[in-house]
Amino acid sequence: MTERVSPARAIHGAIDVPGDKSISHRYAMLTAIAEGTSKIYNYSTGADCRSTLACMSALGISHEFATEEDRQVLVVHGKGINGLSAPVGVLDAGNSGSTIRMLSGILAAQPFSATLAGDESLSKRPMRRIMNPLAEMGAHVEATNGQYPPLTIQGSELHSIAYESPVESAQVKSCVLLAGLYAKGETSIREPVATRDHTEIALRELGADISIAPRFVRLRGPATLEAKTLVVPGDLSGAAFFLVAALLVPDSDLIVTAVGLNPTRTALLDVLRAMGASIKVLHIQEMNGEMIGTLQVKSSAIKGGTIEGATTAALIDEIPILAVLGAASENGLVVRDACELRVKETDRIETIAQNMRAMHLHVDTTADGLAIPGRQHFRAAEIQSCGDHRIAMAFSVAALLADEPSVIYDAEAASVSFPEFYNTLRSITQ
Ligand code: S3P
Repeated sequence: MTERVSPARAIHGAIDVPGDKSISHRYAMLTAIAEGTSKIYNYSTGADCRSTLACMSALGISHEFATEEDRQVLVVHGKGINGLSAPVGVLDAGNSGSTIRMLSGILAAQPFSATLAGDESLSKRPMRRIMNPLAEMGAHVEATNGQYPPLTIQGSELHSIAYESPVESAQVKSCVLLAGLYAKGETSIREPVATRDHTEIALRELGADISIAPRFVRLRGPATLEAKTLVVPGDLSGAAFFLVAALLVPDSDLIVTAVGLNPTRTALLDVLRAMGASIKVLHIQEMNGEMIGTLQVKSSAIKGGTIEGATTAALIDEIPILAVLGAASENGLVVRDACELRVKETDRIETIAQNMRAMHLHVDTTADGLAIPGRQHFRAAEIQSCGDHRIAMAFSVAALLADEPSVIYDAEAASVSFPEFYNTLRSITQ
């Protein structure tokens, strides 16, 4: 699918965004191994979260979508921690790193073997980061060339470990915690920097014996999880594209409702505000241990700056859209400590640079980051999403700032996390 995106004069209105992708994956997996029927409101409409549901179905967990007072609700019939059954055929994680890495933790402890595979992009993503801790727990995982999907996991009895993770990854942390649900005794994990803590919060909500401290989590197994009614907040990483669009397009005023404001995800808002962004939280509440709020954003003069260290890790998914913001800012943007970007759905340092250059924007790349001068003039271009949802969406926002309409090739990639993206964009641009 090809999308044409025209320059915008202003952005106005109120939008909601799909349910958070990270939280949706976790709720689908955890309610599947909880005792009884759970309801999940606002489950992500993205293809990645459908991949997780399809895997759980193939493992014998039934679910259905129902409508309640105009709201869609996902009903999951959990069978308890030992209720999964051997799948017939290969489990397809599609494009989803979260699905393959987190589900591996559960599969490592099952009394059967299973193979997890994915699309071309997923087949190039590194898996040793989960294979190492799982092997320490006694798991048997085989990968292509020792590190790439497909993964074949021969389930076995696991033992608890104290893991010091060398990678800044919530997926790795979550994989170890999910495996730890099945291991007798205390499994703990220390992380090099704080990453999103949705797994820990969800486990606590469903009744696991877990203690959560900064960069250190402990879990006692074997666990029993209880079914629950859960509400998924809107995806702040999806909202980020619209927040930046409203900041950069003149005369804009945008409301984003019911979006997730978990402190491990809001580094984006802190960085934007420090650069001069007008972003107000109009309303905030807690649901299932997660913060949900409504944001108002208005066009602002953005200074730019440097993103590095723990901040880079905390907003790693937002770097593509921040790169666009950097080129439009006064002083430009430098991103450091972002080598994880090279192993996302695409090598995002390269796919950002390639599309910036197509728009006649200057950018320098380094092994672990980007340097982007400010006050640049955006030229209309042919954008290649390279099948990466965040690249498609980031450069659709860049196209709003160009002199003429741009074309986004393979724009359907956006539906990995945000199928409604182009309709939402059209509904607020003038
Ligand atoms: C995610 C963690 C991050 C993020 C991804 C979702 C999660 O990946 O980039 O989009 O849901 O835990 P890493 O754990 O590889 O950093």
